[in-house]
Amino acid sequence: MSTSPAPSATPAFGRNNPFASQLLENRQLNQKGSSKDTRHIVIQLGSSGPTYQCGDSLGVLPRNPETLVREFTQKLGLHDDAALHETLATSAILNRVGKKFVKAVAEKATGPARDKLQTICADEKKLEEYVFDRDVVDVLHDAPGVQLEPAEIPGLLNKIAPRLYSIASSPDHRPGEVHLTVAVVQYTSHGRSKQGLASGYLAHLADQASVPVYVQPTRHFHLPPPDRDIIMVGPGTGIAPFRAFLQHRQRHGHAGKNWLFFGDQHAQSDFLYGDEFAAAQKNGSLHRLSTAFSRDQAEKIYVQHRMQEEGAELWRWLENGAYFYVCGDAKRMAKDVHAALLAIVVKHGGKTPEQAEEWLTVTFAKTEKRYLKDVY
Ligand SMILES: Cc1cc2nc3c(=O)[nH]c(=O)nc-3n(C[C@H](O)[C@H](O)[C@H](O)COP(=O)(O)OP(=O)(O)OC[C@H]3O[C@@H](n4cnc5c(N)ncnc54)[C@H](O)[C@@H]3O)c2cc1C
Ligand SMILES: NC(=O)c1ccc[n+]([C@@H]2O[C@H](COP(=O)([O-])OP(=O)(O)OC[C@H]3O[C@@H](n4cnc5c(N)ncnc54)[C@H](OP(=O)(O)O)[C@@H]3O)[C@@H](O)[C@H]2O)c1
Repeated sequence: MSTSPAPSATPAFGRNNPFASQLLENRQLNQKGSSKDTRHIVIQLGSSGPTYQCGDSLGVLPRNPETLVREFTQKLGLHDDAALHETLATSAILNRVGKKFVKAVAEKATGPARDKLQTICADEKKLEEYVFDRDVVDVLHDAPGVQLEPAEIPGLLNKIAPRLYSIASSPDHRPGEVHLTVAVVQYTSHGRSKQGLASGYLAHLADQASVPVYVQPTRHFHLPPPDRDIIMVGPGTGIAPFRAFLQHRQRHGHAGKNWLFFGDQHAQSDFLYGDEFAAAQKNGSLHRLSTAFSRDQAEKIYVQHRMQEEGAELWRWLENGAYFYVCGDAKRMAKDVHAALLAIVVKHGGKTPEQAEEWLTVTFAKTEKRYLKDVY
């Protein structure tokens, strides 16, 4: 009997086997006058790429900018080494520096540079401060003429790891596409402008560029049954999965109501996808929209302030079985939103602070699985 191969299964794309997708759109979402650069990125997965569901994230394998790789190799007198250039571009972190590299440079430096760097390396606190806002070129600037062997360089640098982005589109919104909402990290330190590795990479991609990606499925951040109401809190890029949720619920005619809390700096320049949400309100698929523009008045107004202002209604939704979703900044925002939710459960749910905490973290989050976070 012939042993013909089984029909090929969909390849399992992952961080070690990414799909070569193609960039379709790279558009700035902020308007004139904004201090931010947030991108709407559209990537083509086509029919042979990975598939996804609302709530999943996309893993992106970034590359360093050619200019930064060149600046680095030129300072080392190694700019003719094409193989080193490619290795550095695809696998070594250059926009931030680790202690191992600083120590190796301190070892090879000569004269006053050697003394300065060795003093820093001998003091852990000083070394932490030194590496905090420097990249590899800043270090070489402090040790002019230092020589490193090409073969040893990759081993002295931290390895690039993929970055995750919450998917901002529903898979059947525009089939074969995946949309992202990316805040470009940018700052200046030691007289040179710096960019985040992956957000800078995405921000500079030209149409049709090839982008290595894979889907990171979510374990928990799923939509609820269609008849359930949802409350979504997503300031800044935290909006991404909720754009996907709204597209999905509208397309499939889910009966549950949708309430979105969005916040950013200024209404005029930073209302990400504001036109889409206005249209969704008009067509009845977005039932409530509460916005908090933090810098449009003297005092800061954040999403959690809007939640508290509308606490009685929010509690009614929760009592009625609504699911509560939070996405975005983990360090401050998600904690403050939790505290606001707690205060609402106390004030409008008639519980003591202890009962409210128990209800939120045990009953609501663990037993009923109605409190879902995608924070980073
Ligand atoms: C599940 C998940 C979902 C995510 N979804 C999104 C999303 O939808 N949209 C989005 O934009 N991001 C999202 N992120 C974050 C994203 O993965 C990246 O972490 C982010 O884009 C920054 O990566 P980068 O490579 O551009 O920056 P990096 O090269 O990693 O640099 C970022 C680092 O730069 C340093 N830095 C920043 N500013 C300064 C400064 N002024 N001085 C000195 N150092 C500084 C900080 O150490 C900071 O950690 C998500 C993360 C996770 C885990
Ligand atoms: N964990 C992290 O390291 C992390 C997480 C998310 C974003 N970021 C970085 O921040 C930059 C922009 O991110 P982003 O566009 O997603 O939005 P963002 O900076 O998180 O800001 C979105 C909105 O949230 C407000 N905000 C600030 N502190 C808050 C709090 N404690 N509670 C509620 N709202 C709060 C901001 O107000 P004000 O700015 O006026 O205070 C702004 O109006 C990017 O460079 C990104 O990389 C870092």
